[in-house]
Amino acid sequence: MINSLLAMNSASLLSQPIISAHNLDHYFGQGDLRKQVLSDINLELYKGEIVILTGPSGSGKTTLLTLMGGLRSAQSGSLKILGQEILAVLKQFC
Ligand SMILES: Nc1ncnc2c1ncn2[C@@H]1O[C@H](COP(=O)(O)OP(=O)(O)O)[C@@H](O)[C@H]1O
Ligand SMILES: [Mg+2]
Repeated sequence: MINSLLAMNSASLLSQPIISAHNLDHYFGQGDLRKQVLSDINLELYKGEIVILTGPSGSGKTTLLTLMGGLRSAQSGSLKILGQEILAVLKQFC
């Protein structure tokens, strides 16, 4: 019983993305100084994938990695780790 439950869980874990981002936006600063650095980011990363993130200096690579690592919170959109929405949780702490 436990073995089959574990097998089901790992099968569903493998078929879902480890990280998924949808319509993710991020801004730094407030008021007149508010600057949008990420706009409508959509991606899905699966277990075992090797992904290269490229872009000019200042294009938002580090910002995106810190969002995906849970080190800061995006202002809007959806960010899921193993299917769990973490944006609302992060907003309470970051
Ligand atoms: N903590 C911060 N406060 C305000 N602006 C920031 C901060 N971190 C990064 N930025 C700005 O956000 C933009 C994206 O930066 P960053 O994610 O570091 O880009 P990359 O890693 O692609 O070089 C840049 O314009 C940068 O100046
Ligand atoms: Mg960087």
